[in-house]
Order: sequence, then C-alpha cells, then structure tokens
Amino acid sequence: MNTNHKYPKSMIFYHSLLAVLMVATLVLGWVMDRENGLMFFHKSVGALVLFFGVLRIINRVRNMGNIPPSVNHGALHLVEKSVHGLLMLMMLVLPIVGWLVSNAKGYPVSVFGLFNLPDLIGKNEALSETLGEMHEAGATVFFLVLIAHVVAAVYHKVKTKEDVISRILPW
Ligand code: HEM
Ligand code: HEM
Repeated sequence: MNTNHKYPKSMIFYHSLLAVLMVATLVLGWVMDRENGLMFFHKSVGALVLFFGVLRIINRVRNMGNIPPSVNHGALHLVEKSVHGLLMLMMLVLPIVGWLVSNAKGYPVSVFGLFNLPDLIGKNEALSETLGEMHEAGATVFFLVLIAHVVAAVYHKVKTKEDVISRILPW
C-alpha cells in the first residue's frame, strides 16, 4: 500500500490549525484561575476551535474522495475510525458545552473583546454546575484520546515503519 500518499493540502492545513488551537485551549483551561485573566483567552481561542472546526468538517466532506487509504485493517481500522471520530466530536462538543457553561454562569462569550457570541441560555447556577462537570469530563476524554492518537502515530512510524505522520504534516 502506498503509505506516502499525502492528505490533500487543505486537510493538512485544518489538521495542523485545529491541533494548535485545541491544545492551546486545553492548556489554557488547565492553567487559568479566577485571577490570571486566562479564562478570556480560553474562551476566545475555544470559540475559534468551533468556527474552524465547522469549516474543517465541511472541507472534509468535500474531500471525501481524496483521503489516502488507511494503513489499518479489521478491528484496528475500527479503532482508528473511532479515535478520529471522537476527536472530531470533541472539537465541536467541547466549545458548545463551554459556551453553555458560560451563559449558565451568567456571562457572555467575548471573542478577543471584538464581539460577543449570542447567549444560548439564561443564567442558571444549578445547570452551570452540571454543564461545568460535563465540560471538564469532556476535556479529560479529549486529552486521553489525543494521547492515544499521538502514540498510535509514533507506533506506526517506529514499529511498523509506516510513515503516516508525514502524510499529515505540512512539510
Ligand atoms: C477545545 C475546546 C475546549 C477545551 C479543550 C476546553 C477545556 C477546558 C478545561 C481543561 C477546563 C478546566 C476544567 C477544570 O476546572 O478543571 C475548562 C473550563 C472552562 N471552560 Fe473550556 N474548553 C474548551 C472550550 C471552551 C469554550 C469555547 C468556552 C466558552 C465559550 C469554554 C468555557 C469554559 C468555562 C466557563 C470553564 C470553567 C468551568 C467551570 O468553572 O466549571 N471552554 N475548559
Ligand atoms: C497534536 C498532535 C497530533 C499529531 C502528532 C497527530 C497525528 C496524526 C496523524 C499522523 C494522522 C494521519 C493518520 C493517517 O495517515 O491516516 C492524523 C489524522 C487525523 N487527526 Fe491527528 N494528530 C494530532 C492532533 C490532532 C487533533 C488535536 C485532532 C483533533 C481533532 C486530530 C484529529 C485527526 C483526525 C480526525 C485525523 C484523520 C484525518 C481527518 O479526518 O482529518 N489530530 N493525525
């Protein structure tokens, strides 16, 4: 199988962009507290994840016929598809639930102070607690699945000598 067959340039672009934005949002989520003002950046970069995430899904659908064949077969192929699916799901669900947490706490979502996203729900303390826990749990799931994703990529490179990493890198 031709494992050197690269992903289309636009898919490589979105993969890199979303990897940077999602890891940045995750790290900001870990280090922010009430005082350090990082919540503002966490929410702003998180909003970019949602915006570019939607564009990425549209781009992926349009490129369906140009995606290089998977190097995995049988059960492993199913695992790979599930991991990719979960990552894509988290790319949309995490920002939406975060947006709901913010509104339920009674705060709007400002995007770098330029404009506010519309409020989806009104203030509701009890709901904000539940949504906050869901958001936190979702972030942990995203982190664990991302680790599995990166380990799998390195495993292919080192163990099976299939250089899947170069198929998705911009260079
Ligand atoms: C990829 C997107 C996102 C990731 C990976 C992410 C991750 C996280 C993490 C790790 C935390 C800390 C949880 C803790 O307290 O231990 C957090 C908290 C929070 N995030 Fe996000 N987040 C994302 C997007 C967003 C967005 C778009 C918003 C709002 C528009 C948002 C709003 C919040 C809020 C309000 C909290 C505090 C929750 C609470 O106090 O219960 N997040 N997020
Ligand atoms: C941060 C380090 C990351 C590395 C090293 C990495 C590595 C890779 C590699 C090597 C592939 C190609 C697999 C193949 O050839 O079939 C791939 C594909 C993929 N990655 Fe990542 N990835 C990273 C981050 C992310 C993140 C944050 C997401 C979140 C959405 C993600 C979602 C995907 C998806 C969905 C695919 C399948 C192609 C597509 O449908 O766009 N990756 N990744």
